[in-house]
Amino acid sequence: HFTKLENKSWQGKKILVTAGPTQEKIDPVRFYSNRSSGKMGYAIAEEAAERGAEVILITGPTNIKPPHGVTTIPVESASDMYDAVTKHFEGQDIVIKAAAVADYRPKTTFDHKVKKQSGDLTVEMERTLDILKTLGEQRTNQILVGFAAESENIETYAKNKLNNKNLDMIAANSIISPGTGFQSDTNELLLYKRDGQTVHIPMTTKKEAAKKLLDNTLEIYMEKQK
Ligand code: CTP
Ligand code: CA
Repeated sequence: HFTKLENKSWQGKKILVTAGPTQEKIDPVRFYSNRSSGKMGYAIAEEAAERGAEVILITGPTNIKPPHGVTTIPVESASDMYDAVTKHFEGQDIVIKAAAVADYRPKTTFDHKVKKQSGDLTVEMERTLDILKTLGEQRTNQILVGFAAESENIETYAKNKLNNKNLDMIAANSIISPGTGFQSDTNELLLYKRDGQTVHIPMTTKKEAAKKLLDNTLEIYMEKQK
């Protein structure tokens, strides 16, 4: 049976998945973040484990409980995620970066709660490191799959990320169409591959989307082994 074959082909493969938002601390009571729920990344990690892969899930703060049979490592900031991901990168077969990593963090973190003043407040922000781009530069044999959250020009922006970050595949979703993106239980994805192939995953549950994404990832992996 097909499912059984699929299960076998994932046996022993080492996969690292990232999920969720990152939180960038301003003071003890406030942070800068985004609307990522973590659902897509968790669905991928869970499905990979069910197919017999050895899965590490590095996740920002979410409300989802860790999937069964997955080594889950919780992190808070982009910098924490960078450390955890680079630490576990070597020896992985496949890395799938579904996390919505903050691009900026407050330049200063205050030890005490910031008190309001009479005028306006400006919070100065600085860039975080691009984790996926770093992996693209450092990779040896790992298959690298990224995500692209876009609200316009999806194909152009996603393909730029595929090239700039040296990826094998990028999964693009529109974060403004109804039923897709950050908080939703469903998703519609466009997979752009390095060989120029495009695969459309029509609107479905995140679990179904995860299955199709993993099927396409395995195909790339198998192709590379030849
Ligand atoms: N990513 C990352 N580290 C960052 C920012 C993004 O690893 N500091 C990864 C995300 O996990 C995702 C991919 O890069 O897999 C694309 O993220 P996205 O936010 O869509 O693209 P950016 O390159 O950050 O560009 P922009 O937000 O300006 O569109
Ligand atoms: Ca970004």
